[in-house]
Amino acid sequence: MKLWGGRFETGPSEIFERFSGSLHFDRKLILDDTRGSQAFARALAKQGILTAEERDSLLQAFDEIAAEARDSKYFDGAGDEDVHTFVIRKLGEKVGSLSEKIHTGRSRNEQVSLDIRLHLRTCADALLDGIAEVMRALLALARKYPDAVIPGYTHLRRAQAVLWPHYLLAYFEMLARDFERIEQTRARINVMPLGSGALAGSGFDFDRQQIARDLDFSQISRNSMDVSADRDFALDFLYSCSMIMLHLSRLAEDWILYSSEEFGWLTLGDGVTSGSSLMPQKKNPDSLELIRGKSGRVFGDLASLFITMKGLPLTYNRDMQEDKEPLFDAFYQALGSLSMAKAVADSMTMNPAVPRAAAEESWVVATDLAEELARSGVPFHRAHQLVGQLVLDSVKSGKKPSDWDGRSLAAFAPEFQPEMARLFSPAEGMKSRELPGGTGPRAVALALNDAQDRLNALSRPAGAP
Ligand code: ARG
Repeated sequence: MKLWGGRFETGPSEIFERFSGSLHFDRKLILDDTRGSQAFARALAKQGILTAEERDSLLQAFDEIAAEARDSKYFDGAGDEDVHTFVIRKLGEKVGSLSEKIHTGRSRNEQVSLDIRLHLRTCADALLDGIAEVMRALLALARKYPDAVIPGYTHLRRAQAVLWPHYLLAYFEMLARDFERIEQTRARINVMPLGSGALAGSGFDFDRQQIARDLDFSQISRNSMDVSADRDFALDFLYSCSMIMLHLSRLAEDWILYSSEEFGWLTLGDGVTSGSSLMPQKKNPDSLELIRGKSGRVFGDLASLFITMKGLPLTYNRDMQEDKEPLFDAFYQALGSLSMAKAVADSMTMNPAVPRAAAEESWVVATDLAEELARSGVPFHRAHQLVGQLVLDSVKSGKKPSDWDGRSLAAFAPEFQPEMARLFSPAEGMKSRELPGGTGPRAVALALNDAQDRLNALSRPAGAP
């Protein structure tokens, strides 16, 4: 069936129909389409276009369509142009010619915007839950090893000692921003477009605020041309998914390294790893590699819609139909990656002795020593120089920090005092970093409590608009 045709002498060619049809992917929107159409039927009744009985039989028919659509075979053999056309055909099969009234004063251009907004709102809620779950898993992992000391890295070279919970809280913060970003994106999605018509505003004086209330939207759009032309909200959504993936990808990369034989800090659960078809000893971190891999795919989804939109003249152009597959894909991959990351975190165990030894054997304490010298009155550049010389001397003679004691340290240069030798233990140096945001043990304990409070405050009542 077609929602147009009077102006044409022949129908569309088969090749064009096949090329332009979108039902095979936009069928995902069917529940949004029926829900939006029900609100629209109520608005049409208020305009006197539908009688109360007509409205009720349409509402009933949409309910039936929504119920039947739960069976995936529902779409088998359908040749309709898109989900909107499909739903109206199904409506006709149920209510006959009454179905011809449902599209009064409505355009598919606003309808598709409405459907995507309804759909992405639900997707955003699922992502918020998924992000909060990973944040919860990170806190649990931090609490399992609250005192573990690891070397922190810059340039993938051991830099300074940090507490394991401090490291995990870095990812907690990234995810907290991801949560916020999805909330902000959701607010821009949560705008009701109906009443915009094709581009000029509908010819019927709908109570648009009432439609917005009916569909739980927090506001109505302000310009009909903007509605037809705009996919900013979709791009915001793709960007937010991309940022989630970027963070999960870096976490995955860290944990791939830290669970390798070379690092040996972490053991991933059997349930999230796989073996090799040839090499019997292998236990590979495929779950994490796939999170890393899928991030590239989601960035591609974002790039694809950006490029689709960039040269389009106002307002609607059929190019915009290409928005849906990247959106569905990015959502699916981001949600799946969040669940996978949580499962990996839950499965993981740590061997704190290994990163502790890595910290103790290396010169992650050098900055602590230089800063202690500076606190004792030595100008920092001089202190830096002195500790650099101490490290060079040690590297040349094969000394580890623990090979030094107060006496040998003080003998190395007059600026060093014997009690500074306590700083050769990485856990000691961390105690000088108790300012907010630092890795000092008290600062981290406070940060953990603060993170838990913030996480608890994130939980929203289910189904909140
Ligand atoms: N299926 C189209 C889309 O997804 C909506 C239909 C609007 N089509 C049109 N020719 N105005 O964008």
